[in-house]
Amino acid sequence: MLNFSLYNPTRIHFGQGQIAQISREIPADAKVLVTYGGGSIKSNGVYGQVSEALKNHQWVEFSGIEPNPGYDTLMRAQQLIKAHDIDYLLAVGGGSVVDGTKFIAAAALYEGDDPWDILAKGQEVTRALPLAAVLTLPATGSESNGNSVVTRDGSKLAFSSALVRPLFAVLDPQVSLSLSDRQISNGVVDAFVHITEQYLTYPVDAKVQDRFAEGLLLTLIEEGPKALTAEGKTDLKVRGNIMWSATQALNGLIGAGVPQDWATHMIGHELTGAYGIDHARTLSIVLPAVMKVCRQSKREKLLQYATRVWQLTGENEEQIIDEAIRLTEQFFVDMAVPVRLAEVNLGLAEVEHLLAKLEQHGMSALGENGDITLAVSREILSAAL
Ligand code: NZQ
Ligand code: ZN
Repeated sequence: MLNFSLYNPTRIHFGQGQIAQISREIPADAKVLVTYGGGSIKSNGVYGQVSEALKNHQWVEFSGIEPNPGYDTLMRAQQLIKAHDIDYLLAVGGGSVVDGTKFIAAAALYEGDDPWDILAKGQEVTRALPLAAVLTLPATGSESNGNSVVTRDGSKLAFSSALVRPLFAVLDPQVSLSLSDRQISNGVVDAFVHITEQYLTYPVDAKVQDRFAEGLLLTLIEEGPKALTAEGKTDLKVRGNIMWSATQALNGLIGAGVPQDWATHMIGHELTGAYGIDHARTLSIVLPAVMKVCRQSKREKLLQYATRVWQLTGENEEQIIDEAIRLTEQFFVDMAVPVRLAEVNLGLAEVEHLLAKLEQHGMSALGENGDITLAVSREILSAAL
């Protein structure tokens, strides 16, 4: 396996009733800004639990962080931070709220001219306000990683810094019971693809990471469809397993010491930036095409994936890979997400626009080998038509 240094200091409070932990976790003298999205936390009781836990703290709130959080929205929080001398951020929501809050934390103490440079020019984050998260949508892993994705004018860009990794995260599966089927599907599929981005590359004899990744994939394949059934909708065991899988999928553990791909995500971000398609639904369209186009460079891991995750056996390796790709697509279909661009009303005409966007964002050497050029991305998008 490759060399690595691993440090994940996010304390996890998992289980029902754990929102109460925030009263102990956040320093008593902190001036807290509670951030959230469009209001789901008001109707599912999470806002009430957070208010109760913070009853002895000084806090104000900032709402309206939208899915695929926008730069302009996030910059509006800065006035509130200055006016109330805020020194601690608590994100309550899904990946968009957590990501958005990370950017707010970094922008608040940014010393350059324009905090957008953190994303557009890769300016290093040298200071950030401390933050924590109450997660309401298992999907991104943002609750215990240092990544954040922010959108401005159709460009969806990412930054990463250990300084914006949440200090603690509350994972209460109960709060995910109010999710719509669409968001459950999105979450399971996003987590699934986070795992494949760190697993379906080339072997480096990283047996622990591989087995962890396979265990998480198997769990999502087993539990994901259950969460969409009538009985599964209220099953906290199912929700708990999905929630913990999604965190583990992108908290640094399975990606340590192994090559990583991320081509599916980078191409997917252009689909969201240009056409507003939900993040996970871009991934379910792009991943099968990446598997098809990159089947030679990913050959050994595709075979391992086929054998260990889908229990496929037989003499004909090409057939086994074909079947593993087919079963992956079928899993996405079972999770009610699209697997072709046509399903989201996009076609050949949009492919050129997406390629121009990839070029504009410097995405011309993607994948674990850096060999997914724009020409290869064209092949991938064509395979996804
Ligand atoms: O805004 P509210 O009213 O809260 O509604 C949200 C939103 O409309 C709703 N929701 C969340 N929790 C709910 C709920 N509705 C009912 N009950 C609940 N318990 O769900 C909708 C979608 O929320 P969002 O936060 O956008 O979803 P998700 O968690 O999938 O986050 C997606 C964002 O994360 C980024 C994506 O690019 C996208 O911007 N990602 C972040 C990553 C990271 N930080 O590591 C990695 C990922 O690959 C991804 O790129
Ligand atoms: Zn993702």
